[in-house]
Amino acid sequence: MIILAVESSCDESSVAIVKDGKDVLSHIILSQIDIHKRFGGVVPEIASRNHVVHMTRIFDEALKDAKLNPEDIDLVAVTKGPGLIGSLLVGINAATAFAFAHEKPLMGVNHLHGHIYAAGIDHEMKFPALALLISGGHTELIYMKEHMSFQLLGTTQDDAVGEAYDKVARTLGLSYPGGPIVDEKAALGKDSYHLPRPFLDKSEYHFSFSGLKSAVINLVHNYEQRGEKIDVNDMCASFQASVLDVLIEKTRLAAEAFDGKQIIVAGGVAANKGLRKRIFNEILNREIIIPKMEYCTDNAAMIGAAAYYQYQKKGALPDYLLGGESTLSIEDEGE
Ligand code: KG4
Ligand code: ZN
Repeated sequence: MIILAVESSCDESSVAIVKDGKDVLSHIILSQIDIHKRFGGVVPEIASRNHVVHMTRIFDEALKDAKLNPEDIDLVAVTKGPGLIGSLLVGINAATAFAFAHEKPLMGVNHLHGHIYAAGIDHEMKFPALALLISGGHTELIYMKEHMSFQLLGTTQDDAVGEAYDKVARTLGLSYPGGPIVDEKAALGKDSYHLPRPFLDKSEYHFSFSGLKSAVINLVHNYEQRGEKIDVNDMCASFQASVLDVLIEKTRLAAEAFDGKQIIVAGGVAANKGLRKRIFNEILNREIIIPKMEYCTDNAAMIGAAAYYQYQKKGALPDYLLGGESTLSIEDEGE
């Protein structure tokens, strides 16, 4: 089954053509990072306007790269949420128009399902699985009994982990998005500031990162007031050590409690090099799969992969009516 997939939930405009959930025939990702960098974060109105500028062109490019015509497409899939509502609506309208014009079935896909199914592009998914979904907007531990079944075990009580990375980076005077920069600098420093490990001692699977972020901000201000300089590499290493201690330990505990055959780590923060190195050394008795770097941050191939499995379970929409939803949860099981 050949699926044309569209993703526009935040600041990436992306179209991919994916065969049978695994074979990525073409993949265009236009990132707006350079446009939003100067504001220190994504400006929703600017993001929507830029999606409008590029969206139809990248449909054509994806088809051309895959050497396919619209008639060759079996299904059109598009991120329906969660995300920035203006951004979502651009992708949804473009996908709906394409599906309508070429008389193809249409399907809305939960962005969070997409992140998890990114891991299925290059790996065989095995169930029951335990998914750690870590991105700019979400930090969740999810139990998957089978394909397309999502039980939320725990989530962040405040900031998402990617959001904490971005805010810590900003406090340290680093650019946006901060995650990759903090990750690079962490590799050059040591865990010398001994930051707290939030919620590590709690038996449940919830997370909290806002206190950790505040600990960094307070320490940086204390140093400034004393006229001393903080060691940026060490601060990044200390922050990252604390985050990874918590993420890895909670994941290990949940995988054991639920006997997850496989651990799936997905979302933008799954691109973290420190995490990719540590988790394989620290969880030895479970298979761990992580998407390729390009499928960790937002992209349309992951939407095409999730759409394939959703179609097996639920089929597509009977008509072309699809709305955007900015606050969908992981437990939404699609139409
Ligand atoms: O999944 P994603 O592209 O968008 C959302 O759905 O939120 O995730 C973006 C987040 C940003 O907060 C970014 O700083 C973070 O992923 N990120 C990283 C790394 N690469 C991206 N965080 C830590 N280490 C990285 N290497
Ligand atoms: Zn995302």
